[in-house]
Amino acid sequence: MHGHRFEAKHHKRLDSPYRRRILPPKATLERFGLKKGMAVADIGAGSGYFLISAARIVGKESKAYAVDASKEMLSVVKGKRPPSNVEMVHTDDGYSFKIDSGAVDYVIASSILHENEPVKFLKEIRRIMKPGALLLIIDWRKESLRYGPPVEERLSPEQVKEFLSKSNLKAVKTAVLNTRYYAVLAKKV
Ligand SMILES: C[S@@+](CC[C@H](N)C(=O)[O-])C[C@H]1O[C@@H](n2cnc3c(N)ncnc32)[C@H](O)[C@@H]1O
Repeated sequence: MHGHRFEAKHHKRLDSPYRRRILPPKATLERFGLKKGMAVADIGAGSGYFLISAARIVGKESKAYAVDASKEMLSVVKGKRPPSNVEMVHTDDGYSFKIDSGAVDYVIASSILHENEPVKFLKEIRRIMKPGALLLIIDWRKESLRYGPPVEERLSPEQVKEFLSKSNLKAVKTAVLNTRYYAVLAKKV
């Protein structure tokens, strides 16, 4: 079971000044170990909120894949003239990414896990990760009711950890980020 996918027409909501304040993309990625020289993939990159900071952090010599199931969202990213190391990857079904196995050091999956069948989705993410690569999951807290997806569609960090373990990924850190979001950092061991 999974929730509804976010509609591209609402993309501006993903880049509000309030979101930038409570979830600063560069600082969040650096806090959870993204570094220069890493190949990074943002799965469900949306309007490029994390992707553009990620592409800058890893630097021109490293790939930053923008993966999305929505062509409209990928056009939004293109319209922002992202750094030259960004490569757009459209996925038809959302469960197969046109990226080589073991190609990336770091995966970002922000506000997306609850929109998908978690284990099927995480197994495809694992496939593109190098051994030792990191996966940063950011998702909506179940407690926060005012904004975001319906509470019954949200996943708790405990549920996320269970899905990670079923997908052969090891949770290494969990943190409440603010009133809306939490993070779980996982590793391919
Ligand atoms: C709520 S938005 C979040 C965007 C971005 N990660 C952020 O935090 O600002 C979810 C995005 O993920 C995309 N998406 C959902 N499921 C997907 C999947 N299985 N594969 C690729 N993209 C997906 C949607 O099209 C949408 O652009």
